Amino acid sequence: MNIEKLKANIYLGLVHHPIKNKRGDLVTTSVTNLDIHDIARSCRTFGFQRYFIVTPLKAQFELVRKILGHWEEDAASEYNPDRSDALSIARHVESIDEGIEKIRKIEGTDPLICVTGANFDTFTGKEIDLLNKAKVDKRPIFLLFGTGWGLHAQVLERADFSLEPIFGASEDGYNHLSVRSAVAIYLDRIARASETMK
Ligand SMILES: C[S@@+](CC[C@H](N)C(=O)[O-])C[C@H]1O[C@@H](n2cnc3c(N)ncnc32)[C@H](O)[C@@H]1O
Repeated sequence: MNIEKLKANIYLGLVHHPIKNKRGDLVTTSVTNLDIHDIARSCRTFGFQRYFIVTPLKAQFELVRKILGHWEEDAASEYNPDRSDALSIARHVESIDEGIEKIRKIEGTDPLICVTGANFDTFTGKEIDLLNKAKVDKRPIFLLFGTGWGLHAQVLERADFSLEPIFGASEDGYNHLSVRSAVAIYLDRIARASETMK
């Protein structure tokens, strides 16, 4: 598989449900305008295929659709995104499963579900291990990011791969990044890892 194709077969999901709150309970978080725009820019900059904003709340998905404007409605843009508009690759889905279904339609196969988090005790591997697995399995990747206090156990349990957290360099081990920062760091790491596969 060629590297550009490999990178293009990575789909990002910003999950607002199922999410955990401070106590670990299952919650749905609110969508933020900043996350939608900034993550779309990171995805476009690194050449990723599609960015799914996952929320089941009607009021919230109306807000997402308003922000995404005509990109949501324009069927032609599905395969021909306007390269000048980062939002052209962003789409709303009501659930992670709807995202999987959309990826299956485009790719003809189910994606590997890859989860991220700051506090994983154990994890499957680094970016290069993820890319190698996707290559061997001949599957696209659905890379999931949390909001609130992170992805709920329901999501972690169904994942095919968990990425090594970004540990940073603070002496006390603090590593709680905003989701926008975490996305940008991982996308750069994935792009660099994909270069080493050439
Ligand atoms: C828990 S949410 C916090 C959301 C926060 N309210 C915000 O403003 O972005 C942050 C998400 O970014 C990712 N993240 C943050 N820090 C991370 C780290 N050190 N390593 C890996 N992923 C991280 C995870 O996907 C996590 O679920």
